[in-house]
Amino acid sequence: MMQADTEVHKGLEGVIVSESSVGFVDGQAGRLVYRGFNIETLAARSNYEEVAYLLLYGHLPNQKEFENFKATLRSTMELNTDTVDLIKSIGHKAHPMSVLRTVVSYIGAKDPKSNSTDLKDQEEMSLRIMSKFPAIVGTIARASKGLNPVRPDPKLGYAANFLYCSTGSRPDAEQEKIMDTCLILHADHGSNASTFSALVTIATLADMYSAVTSAISTLKGPLHGGANELALETIKKVGKPENAEQVLSKMLANKEKIMGFGHRVYKVYDPRARILKGFAESVTHKNGKEVLFQTAEQMEKVMISKLGEKGIFPNVDFYSGMVYDSLGFESNMFTPIFALARVAGWTARSLEYVKDNKLFRPKAKYVGEIGPKDYIEIQKR
Ligand SMILES: CC(C)(COP(=O)(O)OP(=O)(O)OC[C@H]1O[C@@H](n2cnc3c(N)ncnc32)[C@H](O)[C@@H]1OP(=O)(O)O)[C@@H](O)C(=O)NCCC(=O)NCCS
Repeated sequence: MMQADTEVHKGLEGVIVSESSVGFVDGQAGRLVYRGFNIETLAARSNYEEVAYLLLYGHLPNQKEFENFKATLRSTMELNTDTVDLIKSIGHKAHPMSVLRTVVSYIGAKDPKSNSTDLKDQEEMSLRIMSKFPAIVGTIARASKGLNPVRPDPKLGYAANFLYCSTGSRPDAEQEKIMDTCLILHADHGSNASTFSALVTIATLADMYSAVTSAISTLKGPLHGGANELALETIKKVGKPENAEQVLSKMLANKEKIMGFGHRVYKVYDPRARILKGFAESVTHKNGKEVLFQTAEQMEKVMISKLGEKGIFPNVDFYSGMVYDSLGFESNMFTPIFALARVAGWTARSLEYVKDNKLFRPKAKYVGEIGPKDYIEIQKR
């Protein structure tokens, strides 16, 4: 019998698959909201650990809750020797995202609780994963350059520890603030591909390590996590502000997409890009890379004059790569830094979903032959 003719929502575009009170993206108004707070408010006044608590538990912590939360994270922040050895053994040749995926999966395989479907255990696993992320991503950054690991310092916060484990030096207050804010800006963003991937996995009642490993695998693709690397490449290719008009006109005439512009949801200026632009200006100035910022700013003007009326504005990826580059990171670390932040959103939304769980099982419209066809023995085909 023929299948009923059903409308196909390719990529699930526009399909609402769950309810969430974790975060909200208003693409028309250019608002990003975590649990009711505007991203600008959190970026200016909060810090990543507090925001992670907010996403996970639904409210800002009081002093005692916050101290307990930080103490929990810091109690499991160190990596075991075998984890460090694993990173060293593959970190100098594999892509940092492949290493990150492998390490989270490995740590999960060693966690005796990782077969539990109990909600409390899933929450504890979330905290254990998050607590180790600064050291994992920092150690991966060093291993990719053949450098020995640096142990995290329990006196430092999440962002500062990541910078310390990556560079081997304690960051100054400005570097810490910039990295911390970058992490806040990337902590959650609606029902994006990697978050959805985490939900699909947790909904099978798999463990949190599996959900986060799925999310990392999904974030690895250039259509999701990799645009800031390409945006920075384009800015470097344009080279100086005077070239922006000519290079962009040529690229647009060739129907090329300019990385770091446009967004599926935002049809106005991405609020995260506005905050990052300020940081990009200050860090490039500090590092003698002003021309990068000036070129980007001119590219922005050209793009808005050409495509602004179609709703094309800079997105989060346009300025984030420049900020990470100025902080000394290689471009292959940009996506792992994204994961370092997004782990809060992945785990918060997974815990929220599994509380009122429903296995995902969408349908595909069959467009193959209906048959029934005769089976012909292999010798006669
Ligand atoms: C993100 C993206 C896939 C959204 O695509 P989309 O939803 O199809 O975009 P829109 O429908 O708003 O595009 C409107 C028009 O602007 C064009 N456009 C969109 N983004 C563009 C870009 N970055 N460069 C050039 N033209 C662009 C589209 O081709 C379309 O042109 P048309 O009217 O001639 O068909 C797209 O903007 C893109 O590829 N951007 C670059 C990659 C990037 O930065 N990704 C990170 C997102 S956080």
